[in-house]
Amino acid sequence: MADDLSPIDRAKYVAARRSVDFVQPGMKLGLGTGSTAAWMVRCLAERVREEGLAVTCVATSTRTADLGRELGLKMIGLDEVKWLDLTIDGADEFDANLHLIKGGGAALLQEKIVATASDRMVVIADAAKEVAQLGAFPLPVEVVRFGWQTTKALIEETLYSLDVLSRDVTMRMVQDQPLLTDEGHFILDLNLQRIGNPRQLALVLNQIPGVVENGLFVDICDVVVIGHSDGRVTVRDITSGRIEDGTVDPALGTNIFADLD
Ligand code: A5P
Repeated sequence: MADDLSPIDRAKYVAARRSVDFVQPGMKLGLGTGSTAAWMVRCLAERVREEGLAVTCVATSTRTADLGRELGLKMIGLDEVKWLDLTIDGADEFDANLHLIKGGGAALLQEKIVATASDRMVVIADAAKEVAQLGAFPLPVEVVRFGWQTTKALIEETLYSLDVLSRDVTMRMVQDQPLLTDEGHFILDLNLQRIGNPRQLALVLNQIPGVVENGLFVDICDVVVIGHSDGRVTVRDITSGRIEDGTVDPALGTNIFADLD
């Protein structure tokens, strides 16, 4: 099974595997969305099965909730716990300040709510997600359906006063239909190429009527776990400034898919 993994999946897997070391018995956890987060959910479920680790989990999407339940994790709603010890999630880009672009999987709204409701956010990513400046990955913005074309026009107009390189805004589609988020909203993808001031952009976008939330995570992430396909893993903690290098066996544990059909 391990040989079947592409180099990028091996990198995601080792980052995910290392990240579950942050989980302590009794923790209330936020579980992210996306392919890297799905590896983390499998690694977490393996610890729960093999060590009897007791944790309570809140998902950031219906996809993750379904996977967690399928793997036997105790899944509850955020309102039942209100506050979490730790959230582990993927990212589309991260910079040296651990500012992120998220939402490639269209789950940015629940991801931001859950991460903000956590004492600590650990991001897991393959090394290719690290950038000197955010913006090559199109920035997802969740908007309400009512008047979305007006909201799109307002976003385009606002971008002219901001430090970005390109201003192309597109509606995210699934086949020939607009994608609908878990909350029933649309996603607009902002192709900006370069985001000079992520903090300012995040604040300004959220002032536009019709915008629900944007995919910039500024000052939310505490730690990034960066995986490489050869098993090397780097853990960077923005608060302590500590950087730790290690390795994880990139071969999949035989139990990683134990509870999946
Ligand atoms: C989901 O909405 C996103 O924020 C994901 O966390 C992000 O797109 C990373 O996804 P992958 O782990 O699949 O690259």
